[in-house]
Amino acid sequence: MAPCSSHLLWNGFFLNIIILSSISCTIGCYTAIFSFGDSLADTGNLVHMPQPGKLPPFVFPPYGETFFNHATGRCSNGRLVIDFIAEYLGLPFVPPYFGGSMKSFKEAGVNFAVAGATALDTAFLQERGIMNKLTNTSLDVQLGLFKQLLPALSSDHKKLLGNSLILLGEIGGNDYNHAFFGGVSTESIQDLVPYVVNIIGQAIKELIELGAITILVPGNLPIGCLPSYLTLFESLNKKEYDHSTGCLEWLNKFSEDHNEQLLAELKQIQKLHPHAKIIYADYYNAVMPLYHSPNQFGFTGGVLRACCGWGGTYNYNSSVECGNPLASVCDDPSLYMNWDGIHYTEAAYKLIFESVIEGSYSFPSFEALCNLDGKYFNHK
Ligand SMILES: *[C@@H]1O[C@H](CO)[C@@H](O)[C@H](O)[C@H]1NC(C)=O
Ligand SMILES: *[C@@H]1O[C@H](CO)[C@@H](O)[C@H](O)[C@H]1NC(C)=O
Repeated sequence: MAPCSSHLLWNGFFLNIIILSSISCTIGCYTAIFSFGDSLADTGNLVHMPQPGKLPPFVFPPYGETFFNHATGRCSNGRLVIDFIAEYLGLPFVPPYFGGSMKSFKEAGVNFAVAGATALDTAFLQERGIMNKLTNTSLDVQLGLFKQLLPALSSDHKKLLGNSLILLGEIGGNDYNHAFFGGVSTESIQDLVPYVVNIIGQAIKELIELGAITILVPGNLPIGCLPSYLTLFESLNKKEYDHSTGCLEWLNKFSEDHNEQLLAELKQIQKLHPHAKIIYADYYNAVMPLYHSPNQFGFTGGVLRACCGWGGTYNYNSSVECGNPLASVCDDPSLYMNWDGIHYTEAAYKLIFESVIEGSYSFPSFEALCNLDGKYFNHK
C-alpha cells in the first residue's frame, strides 16, 4: 500500500496524527484542496450566494438525506467526489468560499465550485444565445475570487499551492447543458468545445504560474446517459440508442469529443510545464462500466431512471424537479446511480472516486503520486 494510504487509515482513528503524517509524507500528500468547478463539486457555494430568482431545488430535502441529514447545497443525497477525496487525504470537507470561514480555509483549503457555473464567461455565452439562470460565477470569476483571497491565506502562496491538490472541474458541462436545454443547435454547441477547452487550459496555466503543482482535471460525463438528456431527446428511433446501455449515443459522442480535446490540451500544457503534475480524471470511462453492468455494482434500482424526480420514462420532468414536494423519491438511493436526473447519488460518486483516485481511471495515475519512486515524472 502506498505510504499515504496507510497514514490515512490511522487518521480515521487518531485525528491528531494528521499533523505527523503531513510532515512524514512529502509527495502525494496535500495540506489543502483548492477546487474550481460546478455542481459536481459545489459543497455549498450557490446556496450562500444572493439568488436573483427562486431558490434552487437542492436547498430542500431530500437533498443531503443520506449523509448530512440536511440539504447542504450539494447536488446529491450525500457526499460528492471532492468529499471522498478530502476524506482520503485526511482533510476536513473542503469549505465553500461563500459561507466558509477563514479558519476553515486554513484547515482544508477552499472550494470555489458553484452549481450551474460555466467554463466560459456569461457575456461570451450570452452573445451566442446561451443563458444561465443560476449563476454568473464562471471559471474566470472563480479564479478571480481565489487570487483575491490568496494573500490572506498565506504569506508564501507558492508554497501553499505547491503543497495543495488543485481540483479543476469538472467544468464546461454547463456550457453545453445551458445550450442544449436552451434549444441551441447541436452544431453551434459543437463549435463551443474548443473555446471551453481553451479556457480550462488558460486556468491551468494561471494556477501553475501561481505555484500549483498537482492539478486534477476531470473530463465530462456521458451526458447521453443522464435522465435529463434522455427525456429532452427521447426518440422513437431505436438506432439513436446504445442497445447495451440505453444511453443516447450521439450525446455520449459529444462528451467523448470534449474529453479528447481536453486531454490533448492537458498534454500540451504538461509539455510546457514538465515540473507540474497534470492529471486527467476520466469520469466518463469510470462510469461507463456502471451503465453496462448495473447489478454488479449494486444498482438494482436502475441506472437510467432518477431516484428523485417526476414522471416519464426516466422519472424526470424539468418542471417538477427533485426538491419539489411533488417529486417522488426512491426508498433506497444506494440502489440508484442517478439522484435527480442530472447528478449522481452518493453511491455512484463513491464508485467514481474509487475508480479515479484509487483505481486506473486517472492519467497519469493519481495513486502513483503517493509512491516515492519518481516514475511519475517519466510519463508521456
Ligand atoms: C448575471 O449578470 C447579469 C448582468 O450581467 C444579471 O442581470 C443577472 O441577474 C446575473 N445572473 C445571475 C444568476 O446572477
Ligand atoms: C411535466 O409535469 C408537468 C406538471 O405536472 C406536466 O404538465 C407536463 O406535462 C409534464 N411534462 C412531461 C413531458 O411529462
